[in-house]
Amino acid sequence: MRRVIIDTDPGTDDALALLMALNCPDLLIEGITTVGGNATLAQTTQNALRLVDHVASGRDVPVAVGADQPARGSFSYAYHVHGTDGLGVDLPSTARKPQRADAIEFIRDRTLAAPGRIAVIALGPLTNLAAALDGRPDVAKAISEIVVMGGAVEMPGNITSHAEFNIYEDPWSANAVCASGVPVTLVGLDVTHKTSMHRDGGPRWFEGTSRSAQLGNRILSSSFRERADVQDFYLHDPLAVAAAIEPELLTYRRAQVEVVTDGEERGRTVASFRDGSVQVALGVDVGGAVEVVRTLISK
Ligand code: RIB
Ligand code: CA
Repeated sequence: MRRVIIDTDPGTDDALALLMALNCPDLLIEGITTVGGNATLAQTTQNALRLVDHVASGRDVPVAVGADQPARGSFSYAYHVHGTDGLGVDLPSTARKPQRADAIEFIRDRTLAAPGRIAVIALGPLTNLAAALDGRPDVAKAISEIVVMGGAVEMPGNITSHAEFNIYEDPWSANAVCASGVPVTLVGLDVTHKTSMHRDGGPRWFEGTSRSAQLGNRILSSSFRERADVQDFYLHDPLAVAAAIEPELLTYRRAQVEVVTDGEERGRTVASFRDGSVQVALGVDVGGAVEVVRTLISK
């Protein structure tokens, strides 16, 4: 069992990633920490609480609330991709409440209580992670790995031609995480833009009648319905979870990564391929990865 904290801004692809993690027998979810990004913090937190209650109602999966804005400025949100509520589908309301501890306290408390045994899977802007690490070398030592969905090293960006959304939204925090010394696995557009589910594969992309499969199909159907010009649903966040479960699905090059924080190239991830704390994913077993996503969500 791999113990993980999932930091996320659900978000349609975050939702699929959460379904995978909740259904994966090899992951022990210590908790979910929420951040703004795809939608407001209130919306991403509500989406996380409702999703957990909908597919894992009997389970204790703590949700801790994080940052509503990046280290500087404000989030730009991605409602044109994820819908006006950040999910595009209605989920039943829930009585489930977030933890009293905020995301920073939660990440610090859990990882310090189990040094070297908990990884973080980061699926949104890295604001919570940078704050948890700020001035805390003990926390940097305690987190075993941060698997980041983010960046674009040898591939154009998706929010600008230089930058991927998560990194662009908070480049200062992304820089801090890459410089923290914590082992980082960067699952960026270099691999996620090769890994998708196609419009024509539906409406039953996921098999079975489980709530997970049904919700996954609803999310994809809604996303394709609202975006008539889109043929591929890129599995950005699901691939990061798949990489945390089966790292061998990807191939990597070790690097030192710096993030451009200002100007026209804001959010650009610059990799110097040498002995560094970041392993940059550059290759992917697309068939194998999509099969992992399908199998886990169809459960
Ligand atoms: O660029 C893709 C990333 O930005 C994904 O995490 C998606 O959810 C959005 O947050
Ligand atoms: Ca996300």
